[in-house]
Amino acid sequence: MTDAADSPSVRRLSAWDAAELQTLADEYGSPLYVLDLERVRQNYRRLAAAFPDADILYAVKANALGDVLAALHEEGAGLECASAGEVQRALEAGASDSEVHYTAVNPPAQDLDWIVDTWADHPELTVTAGSEDTIDRLADRGYDGRLCLRVNPGIGAGHHEKVQTGAAAKFGVPAERAVDVLTDAADRGFDVVGIHSHVGSGVSSDQLDAHREFVARMGDLAREVSETVTDLEFVDVGGGFGVPYRKDEEPLDLASVAEATREALGEVDARLAIEPGRYFVADAGVLLTDVNTVKAARDTTVVGVDAGMTTLIRPAMYDAYHPIRNLTADLDADEREIVPQTVAGPICESGDVFCADRELPATERGDVLAIGNAGAYGYEMANQYNSRPRPASIVLEDGDTRLARRRETVDDVTRPEREAHNGSATDRKTDDHPAASDTDDERVR
Ligand code: LLP
Repeated sequence: MTDAADSPSVRRLSAWDAAELQTLADEYGSPLYVLDLERVRQNYRRLAAAFPDADILYAVKANALGDVLAALHEEGAGLECASAGEVQRALEAGASDSEVHYTAVNPPAQDLDWIVDTWADHPELTVTAGSEDTIDRLADRGYDGRLCLRVNPGIGAGHHEKVQTGAAAKFGVPAERAVDVLTDAADRGFDVVGIHSHVGSGVSSDQLDAHREFVARMGDLAREVSETVTDLEFVDVGGGFGVPYRKDEEPLDLASVAEATREALGEVDARLAIEPGRYFVADAGVLLTDVNTVKAARDTTVVGVDAGMTTLIRPAMYDAYHPIRNLTADLDADEREIVPQTVAGPICESGDVFCADRELPATERGDVLAIGNAGAYGYEMANQYNSRPRPASIVLEDGDTRLARRRETVDDVTRPEREAHNGSATDRKTDDHPAASDTDDERVR
């Protein structure tokens, strides 16, 4: 096993073994997500070395594959979950209740029902609430366990406006109301343990000032809460650690981020907690895709591939840049000409492109392309639009390769419909159905 803190701080797409990836595509078919668990562990260890005295949670939403959760948990990470489903996965991966935080954002009734039921057997679970309503709804269900308050610091950062949460009205209780809300929660018997905020995702070095300002506000709030409400166990400043997607982008200097965080937080009588997602998994994953069409268009060459915005939605949704490498061309003895090409998927939308006019070696039908930095928010955001089954995922670990999640079939896509037709699923609310909720607020009041 490679060690820890001194692993390379970024793994570029060019560092992957082209022959190995091409073999995997041949063996398992395409499109295919490949995740290197050793790299996930390295990323964890490097971050943990930079933040030696912080509690580190993994934001499960970046990649919820059970193998990833188990590996990161084994390394020492707690698990930050965005839904009841993620909490279920976290517990299944071996996390104990005290290692699991559930961050409730406008939580559906069935999530709260499930969480409160589960809390009965897992009393050390922590629930992070982002509104007074959520606290009321927890109380309605009899919950008075560990509670953390998500605050809105009024400062956002991140790689795209759609992922900047720190100032978005949707998230958290405005910081200026936090003390009142926490006082009330403590009076009602909740076990107030922390405050939380997440400024956004994909925060880069040039946004370090915003990060500093945001953490300073969290430090001030923590001191005020400790003086006026209760002792806090932790101050959670969220995730957001950016990674370089482009060749010329430098990785974050973790030592300066850690130092800036500590300095901005100041003296607090509580542990610092962080909950990155992307940082651990982004460069541990690639997406392999077969080229099925090469077409001379008016101003560009269009390379048609079998992955699309249903497989990896980030370029379509955030104009996100992902590196693309032609594995077959790299393995080809003949030099290929470099020409501008537009790599596009099979979905009937003009947004279904992975890049436009990018300089790549001339592609041929049958080539296999690797799309880099696909380990974070790749499979997790995959969907079945156009009745496209989601791809398979394989993991690499200790020199072995194994199927971690099989490829879906069209049968998987249409099964819920057939079950509705043949009566084996009704989706009516019953006591034993997951959609059941007898404590939905509107009905209680
Ligand atoms: N904590 C909370 C409460 C979050 O909402 C998130 C991400 C994280 C932690 C982890 O953030 P990270 O370290 O991964 O940046 N789909 C988008 C990213 C959405 C992030 C949502 N929240 C993308 O593909 O860029």
